[in-house]
Amino acid sequence: MNAPTNISAQTQNRKADHIRICLEEDVQCDQITNGLERYRFTHSCLPELNHNEIDLSTTFLGKHLGAPLLISSMTGGTEQAAIINQRLAQVAQHYKIAMGVGSQRVAVEKPQVADTFAVRKYAPDVLLFANLGAVQLNYKYGLDECLRVVDILEADALILHINPLQECIQSKGDTNFRGLLDKISKLCFKLPVPVIAKEVGNGISAAIAQKLIAAGVAAIDVAGAGGTSWAKVESERAENPLQRRLGRTFADWGLPTAECITTIRAIAPDVPLIASGGLRHGLDVAAAIALGADIAGLAMPFLQAAATSETAVAELAKVLIAEITTVLFCTGNATLYQLKHSSSLQRIE
Ligand SMILES: Cc1cc2nc3c(=O)[nH]c(=O)nc-3n(C[C@H](O)[C@H](O)[C@H](O)COP(=O)(O)O)c2cc1C
Repeated sequence: MNAPTNISAQTQNRKADHIRICLEEDVQCDQITNGLERYRFTHSCLPELNHNEIDLSTTFLGKHLGAPLLISSMTGGTEQAAIINQRLAQVAQHYKIAMGVGSQRVAVEKPQVADTFAVRKYAPDVLLFANLGAVQLNYKYGLDECLRVVDILEADALILHINPLQECIQSKGDTNFRGLLDKISKLCFKLPVPVIAKEVGNGISAAIAQKLIAAGVAAIDVAGAGGTSWAKVESERAENPLQRRLGRTFADWGLPTAECITTIRAIAPDVPLIASGGLRHGLDVAAAIALGADIAGLAMPFLQAAATSETAVAELAKVLIAEITTVLFCTGNATLYQLKHSSSLQRIE
């Protein structure tokens, strides 16, 4: 076997492991929470609204969404992943919600699996995000590879995920993060679609967000702590006791999602902002938006549903939308704009 085939086989196995571990093991953070439990909506018993007037539609990066939801980046590269992506994409199309795919590095290394990511045919109107690890820019990836992954998906934007902790724990992780900001900046100015910077569950601080925005990223996905713990996922795949221990020690590392949203919004009032990391129902989504996010992403809940059936994914989307709608109704807000600019959400001590 030649070297590139070896690398792509490893990347493909890793994708299969991630799905299996996420579905079979407890990989949620143990102690740290998304921080949204520190807030409570003020109930309005007199909303002065007709329920059927509530409008969840919004625009993000110039594209219309039926609801402020994102199916967060997860998978691709295997047969099972292709089925999962198809189910997710079909539901995204039905509800006009945004969708990301998992890291497309495997599709660059092994073009014959590119099709497992190619969901545009199922989701012609959906805001679609391609995905690559930012650190790959230090490992021979450049504009050409980024253009290729955008092209595979006919994506509206490219997510660069930034995952230093995961790379530390992962077997043979790519840990040279030196000089990355400059490379991200050059990419932002050359790529014809917007670049979104995203963590994978450890959060982005306001200080780093500020640097990323100055570098030219068009949007931030905070992917904060409180949900799926990639330290735990990688500890389940550990090849030695050191990696296993590292994964366990850092299971609860990171910045809670709520903290990322409020601190980034405070320094960047206009940056398109995605809340994600540990959001588990429509109340979480509505709270994240009331705190200043524009849309909200969920990964694990959509993975669990997609592993079951397309119907289960559709059911989840329907429930999330009903929950967000109920928050708006019971706080007397007819639109997301009103929710965001109201004082409906209070911090509780
Ligand atoms: C099976 C699985 C695979 C993932 N793969 C990627 C990936 O390739 N790229 C990425 O940016 N994030 C990836 N993530 C991280 C999610 O997009 C998300 O940031 C993280 O899981 C936290 O969200 P959650 O608590 O809703 O699961 C993956 C998540 C899951 C569950």
